[in-house]
Amino acid sequence: MPNRNPAALDFLLTRRSRPLKAIVAPVPEGEALTEILTAGVRVPDHGKLEPWRIIVIEKPALDRLAKAVVARGEAKGLEEWKVRGASEVYTEGQLCLCVISAPNREAKHPVSEQIQSASNVCLSLVNAALAAGWAATWMSGWPSHDAEFVAEAFGVHPGESVAGLVFLGSDSSEPPDRPRPDLAKIVSWMKA
Ligand SMILES: Cc1cc2nc3c(=O)[nH]c(=O)nc-3n(C[C@H](O)[C@H](O)[C@H](O)COP(=O)(O)O)c2cc1C
Repeated sequence: MPNRNPAALDFLLTRRSRPLKAIVAPVPEGEALTEILTAGVRVPDHGKLEPWRIIVIEKPALDRLAKAVVARGEAKGLEEWKVRGASEVYTEGQLCLCVISAPNREAKHPVSEQIQSASNVCLSLVNAALAAGWAATWMSGWPSHDAEFVAEAFGVHPGESVAGLVFLGSDSSEPPDRPRPDLAKIVSWMKA
């Protein structure tokens, strides 16, 4: 098998996200963060449109955003547990990479493909961080889908959306895994 990369394959066969609560300081900074960002945006991008951008959100900003989540949840009349759960994502987070899908609607390439490319960035950031030895996970929550909140919090324009909040930090414990898909259930063959 020419060009087989056992280390990369082993990573892909064992990679797993961390529970947000298990991700603690320290967080990647400086060159370590630049490396993750550089690898993270090395993704399939039909038309080379770069239809995404990333906001690096540090701890004090996360704490500020947690309060904004509470204010928005109360204004929407959401149940207390929903407000608290969403705000805890921000208070528990150590460092967040907010990936914004910013499709170019004038381009000939389908908007749906541009949105998929932004999702690629999220997974690629998670994988790059994990490969570099950090802890990472991809989160969302109702605030990510609330147009008023994301406009105010992240400067998301109409037609854009939050593809994901990628949280980074260090492992506080042995990361758990979960059952993985049964290939027999999800893969079918077309042989002719
Ligand atoms: C778009 C998207 C949004 C997600 N949002 C959340 C979330 O808000 N809360 C949560 O606990 N998990 C969320 N997850 C799932 C976590 O990323 C989860 O830990 C992940 O599926 C673990 O898979 P892995 O170990 O293969 O990386 C989300 C996943 C995706 C793809």
